[in-house]
Amino acid sequence: MIYAVANQKGGVGKTTSTVNIAACLADSGARVLLVDLDPQANASSGLGFRGGGAPTIADVILDGLPLREAIQHTAIPNLDIVVSEPDLASAAVELPGREHRERILAEALADVPPDYAYVFIDCPPSLDLLAVNALTAADRLIIPVQCEYFALEGLSRLMDTITAVRARLNPDLGLAGLLLTMHDTRTRVSGDVITEVRRHFPDAAYATVIPRNVRITEAPSYGEPVTRYDPSCAGSQAYIAVAKEIVARG
Ligand SMILES: Nc1ncnc2c1ncn2[C@@H]1O[C@H](COP(=O)(O)OP(=O)(O)OP(=O)(O)O)[C@@H](O)[C@H]1O
Ligand SMILES: [Mg+2]
Repeated sequence: MIYAVANQKGGVGKTTSTVNIAACLADSGARVLLVDLDPQANASSGLGFRGGGAPTIADVILDGLPLREAIQHTAIPNLDIVVSEPDLASAAVELPGREHRERILAEALADVPPDYAYVFIDCPPSLDLLAVNALTAADRLIIPVQCEYFALEGLSRLMDTITAVRARLNPDLGLAGLLLTMHDTRTRVSGDVITEVRRHFPDAAYATVIPRNVRITEAPSYGEPVTRYDPSCAGSQAYIAVAKEIVARG
């Protein structure tokens, strides 16, 4: 099952959610592959990969390297990764002239060894060709939504893009769920966003809400998912719970 974690809005918790959900599923015994499709390479660095000459998703997307040759093991058993690098940004200028430019990632993922139960794609904060490649390659989409002002702004454009991708490229793309992130119980707006999202998307929103939690922000600088860095903190407990919901939704 291939999940894309996408929202063109920046800083809403895509990377944090991708890394931690992938790690939780790996901890539960499933084999998981994380594909970092963002030139910012935050998922890569958050798992301790900070450059170093190994093949990256840029080699796969731009130069046709078989994806399996770019897979590396992480420190988490069962969790593998295809890392990213800033060069991937040139996809924006290099891909548009190519044939099947929306399907490059989908075709590359066809080469993935079949023993991965889950593939998670961390998307860049855009609706450009890279994001469209992720939506074209994915079976399901997870949309992180930050519990902040303007959270719903842009969601209708994202929904329009999903509709267009379904019509033209990937009729089977399903919406796995909306994941509310960075909930701050002290602010009223945070609760208001939860109410609003549940009203607009009663079935799609996960029951679990990710709290604003300082351990979540600290973990990446140690190259660890929060569930390793501080397994008992509220952030870890929330990601463990949402990973269970994802499995339960199938
Ligand atoms: N639950 C949380 N509690 C506190 N801080 C969080 C939480 N989730 C994410 N953050 C912090 O918010 C910032 C943005 O998170 P993240 O990088 O996951 O968002 P993103 O959507 O991937 O961003 P981008 O659009 O740039 O890729 C990061 O500094 C991260 O550590
Ligand atoms: Mg990110």
